Amino acid sequence: MKASVIGTGRMGQGLVKILQGHVPNLRWGSRSKEKAEGLIRENGYTGVAAADIGEALDSDMIIHSLWFRDVLPWAEAHRDRLAGKILVDIVNPFTEDFSDFTTEWGESAAELLQAHLPQTKVVGAFKNTFFRVFDNPVLDGLKSDVYVTSDDAAAKASVLELLRGIPFRVLDGGALNNNRTIERMTLFERELAIRYGFYPNVSFRLFGLRDGI
Ligand SMILES: NC(=O)c1ccc[n+]([C@@H]2O[C@H](COP(=O)([O-])OP(=O)(O)OC[C@H]3O[C@@H](n4cnc5c(N)ncnc54)[C@H](OP(=O)(O)O)[C@@H]3O)[C@@H](O)[C@H]2O)c1
Repeated sequence: MKASVIGTGRMGQGLVKILQGHVPNLRWGSRSKEKAEGLIRENGYTGVAAADIGEALDSDMIIHSLWFRDVLPWAEAHRDRLAGKILVDIVNPFTEDFSDFTTEWGESAAELLQAHLPQTKVVGAFKNTFFRVFDNPVLDGLKSDVYVTSDDAAAKASVLELLRGIPFRVLDGGALNNNRTIERMTLFERELAIRYGFYPNVSFRLFGLRDGI
């Protein structure tokens, strides 16, 4: 399975940091292929190839890191290229000032993206992982949770398989509608982390699940 990360922002950089060396022949797509090339060079990544958006869309699994305000128009523009593929969605639909959500109760960004792309298999992941966590993903010997969600069982299994062995506790998070909760957890997490002085080095870990998952 060929995989791409799209976007060279904070989450794009964090995702590539974790996936390079783990996912063979990873592609890193950007509107600026030169920026991706520069980051690959600076970080000394091997086994990662810079790509323009068209090249990145050639992969079977595409992990995008666009903001919610950008992702639906982007998905529409690339609907045909995304058909039949797995699109991993990390979006949290917050307002610009992080004071609220831009989706209604009973909605999630992941479900809206899936509704826009009925031929694509949308899989939610990394929604609670703040970008800084990718620098030091293991804290006091503990990994944080990544909840992987989808309405397509085979696509979810492929993402769980791809992520197996990364320094996170990767869990089957059930159906896409669980993102109504998961996406909202991120804003709560952010508020607590700011209050107690740990933002943005914060993610979730569910107490009580036994290790070895
Ligand atoms: N920041 C976090 O800690 C965090 C945590 C969990 C989830 N998320 C989610 O992750 C997403 C990205 O967050 P971020 O903090 O990484 O944002 P960011 O630093 O602003 O990066 C967003 C990236 O999206 C790409 N992009 C923007 N507009 C685009 C467009 N119209 N077409 C194609 N690509 C476009 C850009 O990549 P290029 O310039 O390379 O094209 C940009 O670098 C958001 O949806 C956010 O909700 C963020």
